[in-house]
Amino acid sequence: MTLSTSSHSLLTVTDLGRAGFVELLDRAAALKADKKAGRERRALVGRNIALVFEKDSTRTRCAFEVAAYDQGAHVTYLGPLGSHLGREESVADTARVLGAMFDGIEFRGFAQGTIEELARNAGVPVWNGLTDEWHPTQMLADILTMREHQPGDLEAISFCFLGDGRSNVARSLLMTGAMLGMDVRIAAPRALWPPDTLVADARREALASGARVMVTEDTGEALDGALFVYTDVWVSMGEADAEWEHRVPLLTPYRVTAAMMAATGRPDTRFMHCLPAVHDTTTAVGRKVAERFGLVGAEVTDDVFGSAASIVFQQAENRLHTIKAVLVEALGR
Ligand code: CP
Ligand code: NVA
Repeated sequence: MTLSTSSHSLLTVTDLGRAGFVELLDRAAALKADKKAGRERRALVGRNIALVFEKDSTRTRCAFEVAAYDQGAHVTYLGPLGSHLGREESVADTARVLGAMFDGIEFRGFAQGTIEELARNAGVPVWNGLTDEWHPTQMLADILTMREHQPGDLEAISFCFLGDGRSNVARSLLMTGAMLGMDVRIAAPRALWPPDTLVADARREALASGARVMVTEDTGEALDGALFVYTDVWVSMGEADAEWEHRVPLLTPYRVTAAMMAATGRPDTRFMHCLPAVHDTTTAVGRKVAERFGLVGAEVTDDVFGSAASIVFQQAENRLHTIKAVLVEALGR
């Protein structure tokens, strides 16, 4: 039993603790190998899982669905407009209804308080598929991906996040790295640093785990020797479009370019991104950024995104194997 709450829920990145997190990574690696070898055993036959999304998704939704199907479970998707949640029906009432029909609930949404309310009332495991504050299942995929590139002690891994240090992904990387004893650096303009209370929490975790935690405006110091360079979108889901006007000037010095990659000083540095990414003008957002600000790509340039150093699609695939590990751990038989 690794999901640390007795309910097997996963609401924030520290719920698992170090041992539980690593145990899930090992389970995910085994499930990945089993699937690739065509010898997967179905541990979720007869299980029903609800997928509740207040925000859009490609990877998280698909990973939960395919993981469930691979293991013999059924899923029901409730999208941003497809249910009464939060409009005609309270979160608590919806939780009781879903908890009586389903064996587990995935939730993606805005406020962290919503998923906590859901978990308090559902009576079945609830898994966080992203909130404004946390993205725990992303962390499992990311650390698995890092470990695939640098097998051995997690403590030997250094990574640097560049960009919006308050995003759910940046916060999650900070706390996960601190919990796991890694060398974690966040480089961001001061106005976009993670909240002070979170940095204090990360430093407390680091005291126990031996992690090194750096939050700085100085990209040179943050990148020096980093094995992984990670970024996320400059404006997250749910934030106002007008934010682009503030963020572009603030964050352009933090965009991941070939020069930033070279600044690690090591030839084996890899590029990571949770995706979706703004890296060219093939999307509506990418075209808007180009028209408004004259930038092709935002948080990462297209050459870095498409380079041999980029492991973003391996990360995306690992969402499947790690989410499957979460489901099997909680509901497997
Ligand atoms: N990385 C991630 O959560 O992607 P989706 O928004 O597509 O689920
Ligand atoms: N910070 C991004 C992550 C997307 C996976 C967002 O919340 O939109």
